Amino acid sequence: MKTHNPAMATDLPFPRQYGTELLVISRGKGVWLQDVAGKKYLDFAGGIAVNALGYGRADLARVAAQQMRKINHISNLFTTEPALKLARLMLARGPFKFGSVFFGNSGTEANEAALKYARLYALRTKGPGHDRLVCFDNAFHGRTLGSLSCTPSAKYQEPFQPLLPGVSVAPYNDMAALEKLIDDKVAGVIVEVVQGEGGLRLMTPEFARALNERCRKVGAILIADEVQTGLCRTGTFYGSEGVGLEPDIITLAKPLAGGLPLSAVLIPEKVNCLVHAGEHGTTFGGGPVTTAVAARVWEVLSQPGFLENVRGLGEHLRAELEGMKGRHANVGALRGKGLLQGFEYTGGEVKDLLDRLQAQGLLALRSGTNVVRLAPPLVISKVEITRGVHIIEDAMS
Ligand SMILES: Cc1ncc(COP(=O)(O)O)c(C=O)c1O
Repeated sequence: MKTHNPAMATDLPFPRQYGTELLVISRGKGVWLQDVAGKKYLDFAGGIAVNALGYGRADLARVAAQQMRKINHISNLFTTEPALKLARLMLARGPFKFGSVFFGNSGTEANEAALKYARLYALRTKGPGHDRLVCFDNAFHGRTLGSLSCTPSAKYQEPFQPLLPGVSVAPYNDMAALEKLIDDKVAGVIVEVVQGEGGLRLMTPEFARALNERCRKVGAILIADEVQTGLCRTGTFYGSEGVGLEPDIITLAKPLAGGLPLSAVLIPEKVNCLVHAGEHGTTFGGGPVTTAVAARVWEVLSQPGFLENVRGLGEHLRAELEGMKGRHANVGALRGKGLLQGFEYTGGEVKDLLDRLQAQGLLALRSGTNVVRLAPPLVISKVEITRGVHIIEDAMS
């Protein structure tokens, strides 16, 4: 029999897709969360890879409050100092060269915009009829109808058919398929370097190279969806750097504004110079509060040693998971990289394990059907990583 949890809200006033009961979280500090009944949780989920700097940050709270008092919103008929500052910070960062940034509110919107920019570029450089899109099996790019069309999962797509025509699904990491599916009629190719929702599969450097070459050859815009992998998560600032992918466009979202809704599409000048006034837009995207907070997040992530520390933490997590795999028959292949890692779980439903972890004070995630995904805040310590892995081990015993 299920024990009653006093922090669980039932009879939810939300649409049914979120289930029938949810744990009510009230606060957080560092990498620890607390529910309304006072129980503490070590956070290996990070609000689904969002809370890179953890919880209870005085600096982010201060920036948000100060900006709220100055100017809360003004629309894209104007701009603000924080939006200009953030965009300039982003464009100044290498190794890729971008010409401009479009700010949106979520990952799906960023990808939606990126697909539209790819189509605009194809229309204006090659003419009508060059509008096809290519995505990869097990990809996740979002839930608006355009990005959903590039998220080839029956569970997400089937109830919403018909979706966008002209989208081909290529096998991930299969170089032979690229030549067949990416031709002159393709406007854009969208891809993740680690499939965050699709089982934490990694792009191989050989595949990245082949993708760069093929897209360049046919003039297709290569879009790296770095909504989950971007901003240090996988041990390089952009995940693309880690595998040698050379995207024309990068989309970012989750960790960008410390938990506030903000996304960004980094666009090359060759695309930007073909865009006409009014062809795309948003009311809230790039507002002064979200961009002010994001500028602070960007500065923290860019501080000397931050990235190296994440890399060290990723190696520590891998070593702990290797140890656990050696001791537990139910741990299959290890997946992912940096602080986006996980393992195949062969002891039953991942959901059941996640429920047990939650009961034991650890929050984690699923990826694909059988992978336990760990995406803690990037400010976690080695001691906390070890502690979390021990909780997982206990829950499996
Ligand atoms: C790689 C990737 N792209 C896009 C999205 C969609 O982002 P959002 O939920 O902010 O719309 C996600 C969300 O999990 C993601 O992981």
